Amino acid sequence: MQLAKSIEEIRADFPILSTMAHGKPLVYLDNGATTQKPLQVINVMEELYRTTNANVHRGVHYLSDRVSERYEAARETARAFINARSREEIIFTAGTTASINAVAFSFGERYVREGDEILISGMEHHANIVPWQMLCERKRAKLKIIPFSDEGVLDIEAYRTLLTERTRIVAVTHVSNVLGTVNPVKEIVAEAHRHGIPVLVDGAQGIQHGLVDVTDLDCDFYVFSGHKVYGPNGIGVLYGKADMLNELPPYQGGGDMVANVTFEKTTYNVLPFKFEAGTTNFTGAIGLAAALDYLSALGREAVAQREQSLLALATAGLSAIDGIRIYGTAPHKVSVISFLPGTIHQLDAGMILDKMGIAVRTGTHCAQPLMERYGITGNIRASIAFYNTEDEVEALVKGIRRVTEMFV
Ligand code: ALA
Repeated sequence: MQLAKSIEEIRADFPILSTMAHGKPLVYLDNGATTQKPLQVINVMEELYRTTNANVHRGVHYLSDRVSERYEAARETARAFINARSREEIIFTAGTTASINAVAFSFGERYVREGDEILISGMEHHANIVPWQMLCERKRAKLKIIPFSDEGVLDIEAYRTLLTERTRIVAVTHVSNVLGTVNPVKEIVAEAHRHGIPVLVDGAQGIQHGLVDVTDLDCDFYVFSGHKVYGPNGIGVLYGKADMLNELPPYQGGGDMVANVTFEKTTYNVLPFKFEAGTTNFTGAIGLAAALDYLSALGREAVAQREQSLLALATAGLSAIDGIRIYGTAPHKVSVISFLPGTIHQLDAGMILDKMGIAVRTGTHCAQPLMERYGITGNIRASIAFYNTEDEVEALVKGIRRVTEMFV
């Protein structure tokens, strides 16, 4: 499978990749935290502000109509990208965190009672832990955790036994932001559905690495952020099955989410607007659609393949360094590699790499319970995108070698 553009053409689409950092060419390997934006996204947003700015769904005038059409076209792009059945199942939010909080609140209000259970996994990002903990505190429900192996593979047998008649929802990450593990979400969903339990899949680290088909996964909710999939910041998607979303109360009140308002009673708008109170981030949504179009045009399977080959290179190079510990060696993982070089502190290593122009993330990566599971205070994470090069992966490996030599 071939990318539709050469690596030189791709890199030219991302002007920020030519930055010099501390006098060295930037090697950007922090794509799990946020991805860079192609000109196709930057230009569309600039063009929108220059030519088509007005409030969506609010006016009868020319500009409002134009921007509303483009906003709804962006919704259709997002629908097609994840193969949802209908546009009404695509809610634009501020991002993954906002989407999970929305579900935890609305679903919790509707379905969770004292003594009920919420099931998440031990490898979740804080965004898929804390909203459920807050719900459990509000409702006096219990949070239960699916364990995982040292390699970073979820214990599916344990998962089966953790599903009880009190489980109200399962919330799992598609891909671990630390370990890179791709979880068997289709199997997880099927098992939960056998018990009539809905499943939310956190796609923040899944959407950018290959095909996501929510109809095939059959999940009840799938959430992701624009900024991690080459789109703008402050925009994201909450996909929910229409039947489910229709049953849930809105979590925010305001303009556009209403059908009729009187001081006595308010009735709500239809999907998806019922969950989009206030002026939405319509520029962000249109920018996100441009990012999704960019990836589709490039070839999503080819993107995933390229990332796999860069991951293999990074894994081989880093594994060959004495004393290296790699966290996350699941057979099915994306291009994220977390590690510690011997006993060198992650922050020291991160700062030295930075001076070499290499950007990685250091610390707990918003997954403190996962770090505790491994008995560490944090690690170094290189997260690779299709626009990275073999030379950049080599630079990382050389950089870590240099760090280990400095601490001998
Ligand atoms: N969730 C982002 C990460 O994993 C910020 O780095």
